[in-house]
Amino acid sequence: MSETASLRVGLAGAGRVAHALAPHLAAAGHRIVAVVSRHEERAAELARRLPGEALAAGLPADPPVAPVDLPLVDWWFLAVRDEAIAAVDARLDAAGAYAGARLVTHTSGAWSAGVLRRARARGLAVASVHPLFSIAGPAPSSLRGLRFTVEGDEAAAAVIERWLAAAGALARRIRSEDKSLYHAAACIAANYVVALLDAAERLFVRAGLPAEEARAAAAGLARSALENTESLGPVRALTGPIARGDAATVGAHLAALAGAAPDLREIYAALARYTLDLARRQAASGGGADPADLEALAALLQPAPPRGAAGADPAWEGGPS
Ligand SMILES: NC(=O)c1ccc[n+]([C@@H]2O[C@H](COP(=O)([O-])OP(=O)(O)OC[C@H]3O[C@@H](n4cnc5c(N)ncnc54)[C@H](OP(=O)(O)O)[C@@H]3O)[C@@H](O)[C@H]2O)c1
Repeated sequence: MSETASLRVGLAGAGRVAHALAPHLAAAGHRIVAVVSRHEERAAELARRLPGEALAAGLPADPPVAPVDLPLVDWWFLAVRDEAIAAVDARLDAAGAYAGARLVTHTSGAWSAGVLRRARARGLAVASVHPLFSIAGPAPSSLRGLRFTVEGDEAAAAVIERWLAAAGALARRIRSEDKSLYHAAACIAANYVVALLDAAERLFVRAGLPAEEARAAAAGLARSALENTESLGPVRALTGPIARGDAATVGAHLAALAGAAPDLREIYAALARYTLDLARRQAASGGGADPADLEALAALLQPAPPRGAAGADPAWEGGPS
């Protein structure tokens, strides 16, 4: 495929990622010639927003193979939910959609390109291209500076990378066997940050803040921590009672949580243990707490003994009130 090739693209899926990325495939000179989705009306709605005359078709689960007369496609771009990728790959193959195609890609962060078994068995190049940003609201007007992770067969990965480079996006290649670890990292940075902000918001409300103020307070704090972490790195950015080796304050937190939000106590303690490791690294670099205070904290943060085991968890006894 030449550097400047304009490929005929078939989109499978008409959800958030398809809506967000399809205009950028078209802007890079590729022609979207078909949009297929489980529900035909969703495929049609996306096709109407794109330049050209893309054919829109339903790809229902039942009957399993839609009798659709699809145009010739060079690049099948699957943007369907993770659990549907293998089924859609099989359905496209069974419908004859892979005849004449060169590459098939999907956008899952969790799955490798190997999930596209039928495409690979047909000798097509397969790859995954994972947008490393959250797509929930309006589609990005530009991909410039946005990160993507690419994995899979060289021939397919190279086409994706040329597209992303032309769009000004940042592409990073990873190995197939590293995808689960990579995706766990992405979940921590995106999903669990959201979950932690929800927990902070809940506790602010329990502590008497009005709901709308609680959300702004949690988000404002997180924003400043995020900016500091990005510019200084986590070891230097860490502040708070664990960075200071303040066991009395952490003990008081644990006691308050045990009464008001026991489900959050376990999460708090697990994260505190991880944070303690960060505080130790801060101390080792010469800018943090007294190591003896950090060891007192470590004792306080021992995991709770299994239910029914003898002996009390010191953390549940609480600190100063
Ligand atoms: N959203 C994000 O922030 C994000 C970021 C990075 C990567 N991703 C990945 O991108 C992929 C798509 O995510 P999304 O957020 O766009 O999902 P989505 O908005 O839920 O859209 C999923 C699409 O998959 C189609 N689909 C679901 N089951 C199907 C089936 N059995 N057969 C055929 N089509 C089926 C749906 O069709 P109908 O609408 O016709 O029912 C829909 O168009 C996933 O692999 C996801 O992990 C998402």
